[in-house]
Parts: sequence; C-alpha cells; structure tokens
Amino acid sequence: MDAELPFTLDEMQLADIPHVMAIERRVFPMTWSSGIYQRELTSNPWSHYRVLRSTQEGLPPILAVGGIWLVDKSAHIATIATHPDYMGRQLGGYLLLHLLVLAHNLGCTEASLEVRASNTRAQALYRKYGFVEVGRRRRYYSDNREDALIMTRPSLDLDSLREELAIVEKALLALWRPEEQRGQRSEERKNKRRKRADKHPTMPPPKP
Ligand SMILES: CC(C)(COP(=O)(O)OP(=O)(O)OC[C@H]1O[C@@H](n2cnc3c(N)ncnc32)[C@H](O)[C@@H]1OP(=O)(O)O)[C@@H](O)C(=O)NCCC(=O)NCCS
Repeated sequence: MDAELPFTLDEMQLADIPHVMAIERRVFPMTWSSGIYQRELTSNPWSHYRVLRSTQEGLPPILAVGGIWLVDKSAHIATIATHPDYMGRQLGGYLLLHLLVLAHNLGCTEASLEVRASNTRAQALYRKYGFVEVGRRRRYYSDNREDALIMTRPSLDLDSLREELAIVEKALLALWRPEEQRGQRSEERKNKRRKRADKHPTMPPPKP
C-alpha cells in the first residue's frame, strides 16, 4: 500500500493494548479486559490481531483494530473497531478485507461473525464486503439481552478479495493522501513563484 498514507497495517502488539482499549471503551457497550487481550496475543494459537498504526504526528497511535479466530476452515471475526474520530474514512473496510486475506492465507474458506441486531452501521460494512445474514442468536448479549445476527461470507476467493482491496485502496488514497499532496504541491508552487520573483524582482512576492 502507498507509503504516503499516514498508517501501516501491523500485527497487534502487547504495547498496543491500552490504545486499543481506549478505542473499545468509546465504541462498544461491553469491552474486553486487558487480560483477555494479553491472553489473545500470547496464548491463543488460533487468534490473529491486526491494527492500523498511525505514522503521522497528531493522529492517535492506533486508528483501527481487528482480529480473527480460526475455527476449522472458518475465520470468525472476533472484533473490529475504528477510532471514533476516524470512522467513515474506509479504515474499517480496509482492515476487514486484510483480515479476510489473512484468513484465506491461513487456509480458511469462509468467514463468520455475530453482530448486534441494532448495529446497522457494522451490518452495512459487512454486507458491503460480502457477508449475508444466515441466522440469529436470541438474547445473545448479556448487557441488554439483545439478539445477535449471524452473518457469513461464504467465499474467501483471493481474486475477489484483491479486487475489493484495490477499490478500497483507491478510496483510501483519495481520502487520506490529498492533504499531504496539497501541502507538497502548494509548497512546490510557492518555490516556483519565489524563483520567478528572484529572476524578476518586480514581481509580487508569493502569497502566504
Ligand atoms: C463498524 C465500523 C468498524 C466501520 O468502520 P469504518 O472505518 O467507519 O467503516 P468504513 O469507513 O470502512 O465504511 C465501509 C462501509 O461500511 C458502511 N458504513 C460505515 N459507516 C456507516 C454508517 N455510519 N452508516 C451506514 N453504513 C456505514 C458503508 O457501507 C461503508 O461503505 P461506504 O463508505 O462506501 O458507504 C465502525 O463503525 C466501528 O468501529 N463501530 C463500532 C464498533 C463496532 O460496532 N464493531 C463491529 C462489531 S460486530
């Protein structure tokens, strides 16, 4: 992916736990403890977690987090969350697709998940990326006895995943890179004007 994007896709590390929990506290009604995350990262051979780690000052250290559990040939989406200040900027979709590619590479042929019946935003994300509703677990969530929808993506065909990733990457570039590019371009324009002004001292100075 483009090195100019202000984040990288990385394996989640123990040091990321506080940042991940800070996101979770803001977006989930119930969150995992740091102990659960520690066990997930150190002693569960079937779990794989990824983060979008920012590389630019001024952004939160972690922009999104997601994880899968491998159950036979199925990947279960254990969690996925985007930092609330950066939702709607294609990070969730990008991370989800990478988790699905990872699942494919680890031998999975399908993916599944549970999502709160009221969580229409997450359902829209999953539908966009090929998940369909296949069932419901009644009163699944202990905090409010809400139902869970069971959704699956029946195929993890790599060519399709790559096509979907190419589309989301294009959208990401449009959303995340322009500021930098604009900054660079305006700097280049200013430098050109400065050079012209040096050659022709009567020209007005470059605009700030
Ligand atoms: C669900 C979640 C991970 C989506 O992350 P995101 O980075 O905002 O998602 P993206 O910007 O990649 O959006 C991808 C697609 O999801 C859907 N989507 C995202 N936000 C949406 C919203 N507010 N309303 C409707 N659809 C939405 C759209 O289909 C969107 O595609 P589009 O931009 O072409 O319309 C994020 O909202 C989140 O962290 N929610 C809280 C935690 C959570 O509910 N996790 C899921 C638990 S099962």
